[in-house]
This record gives sequence, structure tokens and C-alpha cells, in this order.
Amino acid sequence: MRWEILKLLRVQSPNYLSGEEMAARFQVSRTAVWKNVQALQAAGYRIEGSTRLGYRLLGSPDFLYPVEIVPGPATQIIAVSPQMIHHYPRVDSTNNILKELAGKGAPEGTVVVAEEQTGGRGRLGRGWDSPAGKGILLSILFRPPLAPSQTPLFTLLAAGAVAGVIKAHLPALKPGIKWPNDLLLGQRKVCGILTEMKAESDLLHYLITGIGLNVNCQEKDFPPELQQSATSLYLQNNKIAVSRQKLAAGILQEIDRLYRVFLDGGTDQIINTWKKYNITLGNRVAVRTLQGVFAGRAADLDSDGALLVEDKNGKNHRFLAGEVSLHP
Ligand code: BTN
Repeated sequence: MRWEILKLLRVQSPNYLSGEEMAARFQVSRTAVWKNVQALQAAGYRIEGSTRLGYRLLGSPDFLYPVEIVPGPATQIIAVSPQMIHHYPRVDSTNNILKELAGKGAPEGTVVVAEEQTGGRGRLGRGWDSPAGKGILLSILFRPPLAPSQTPLFTLLAAGAVAGVIKAHLPALKPGIKWPNDLLLGQRKVCGILTEMKAESDLLHYLITGIGLNVNCQEKDFPPELQQSATSLYLQNNKIAVSRQKLAAGILQEIDRLYRVFLDGGTDQIINTWKKYNITLGNRVAVRTLQGVFAGRAADLDSDGALLVEDKNGKNHRFLAGEVSLHP
């Protein structure tokens, strides 16, 4: 009922809505209404109460509450209702929480989002640092009808989606994707994506895509070792704060759209979206894999999303995973 009350107050804002009217609407006592208003206040909403006039909404916090980031009727698979979004003030890692939910049979499109992570994980065994309440930390569960070997293309999807959402919200910025799915602004990283899967031989049980986007972080929020290499939308947007709620809703919506394109066999569209933001192809790169480091010119992506790197004899070498350095 708390969120229903919020909806009513929002429609009525900046005017007052009487406690009596809300009590009648929900067929509860005025005390029950008051208790729910208190819960909303504790959640960060600025609600003024007047014995004579009722309640009015004066301001909302930029927390990633399900009702605030649910994309509404726009999505068909991901977060189609607020109940499919699990919000936590603090978790070790949203990917870990979603893995547990996936193991218990959570449906495709379930989302876990947190204000803060104490053990955020990055690619290649690294960590992911993000100050509380300043980034978007979210994980999405997919159960695509794919063989595990077909998943690399899937990892490009989320990067293309997030780049598109950044561009749509902040047209002056120029997000670039470093293969496979690091998002950079200028030379600095603004978003990282970690896709993990549970599979048995040829059967994919589920995929989890975890997105860490630095939204309103200031320089001092990054640990010293990242201060030269990390950035945030705030820092790139003339130090003007950006709504995390709008971005998160936009990301869920765009990933839902591209995922449906993907399921309909729109491989080219996924690759072309990725290429719109490409800063890898055409450049000299070094690709680090478990086998060692390979340097050459990033020539193209193949239809699986693999990176083709041309050696000095013009021969292409194919990489399905690895860490790319640009202009080594
Ligand atoms: C990388 O660039 O190394 C990937 C970083 C991915 C970080 C996100 S934050 C939300 C989700 N939960 C995690 O523990 N990691 C991902």
C-alpha cells in the first residue's frame, strides 16, 4: 500500500491529499495511512503532513527502488513488474544474489539492484568498487535458448544498450566500447559488465549480466589506483548530477528491446549497435588471454561476436575472450 500511496501523492503533488481520502480509498484507518507515510519518509521521500490539509510530496530520493526504475509497459521480458526487481541497500555482489535466486527458479528477466556492494566483482577475477548511492549496480537474469558456445555475442548486447542509453540521456557525451564490453568516456572507464553463466556441457541453465555504471561519483570516490583510469557520468557532464533512476529504467528497457532482437535472430543488429560505439576496431591492440599476449590490428567482429585481430602478415586471429589494451 505504501507505493500506492506514493503514486497518489505524486499525482496530487504539489497539492495536499487528505489522510481521510486515502484511508477511504484503501479502506483502512487514518493511522494505517500515517504509518505508511512514515515508512515512505524513512525511505527518503520528503512528505509534509498537516493535520488540516493532509499530506503532500515535496521531493523524492534518487534511490533505485523497484517502483522508480520499473520501465513500465515498455518491457516484455525484463522487469515487467516491480515484483521482478529486488532492491537492496547493501549486498556483497548483485550477481551473487541473483545466482541464488536463479538457483531457486527465479524467472527470466528478474533483476537485482543495490545501492552499495561490499564485494563487487569484475572480469578476470578483479573487483568492482563503487561508492554507496552513486552508481548503478544491477544484474539481470536471462534464460536464453542457446548453447554455451553461442553466448559471446550476448555479452556485446548489454554494452551496446548501455552506450545507447548514455547517449540518449546525455547527447553531448561520446561513449565508446572497448571489446568486448568496457564502456569508456575519453580514455577512462565509466561502465563494466560481467556476464556469468551456469551451464552443463551443452545445456545453458542461465546467464547473469551484471552492470556497474559510475553515475554520480566524484574523483575522490575512486580508490587512488583508479583515479587516472576511471570516470563517471557526473564528471563528464560538467559536474551536473544525473538521475540514476531514469538511467536504470532506460537500461532495463533497452536491454529488453535488444534481447528480443537477439532472440529473433537479429545478430547483425546487435553487432551494428555495438559497432556504433566501437573504439576498438581499426586500432592497434594487444589482447591478453590465458595463453599470453597477442598484438595486432583489431580488424573486425565475426557473427559470434569474436574479435578478429590481424597480424603483420594479414592473417586474422580469432578471440572469444580476453582483455584488450588499445594502442599498446
Ligand atoms: C568489469 O569491467 O570488470 C566488470 C565489472 C562489473 C561490475 C558489476 S556491478 C553489478 C554486478 N555485480 C558484481 O559483483 N559485478 C557486476
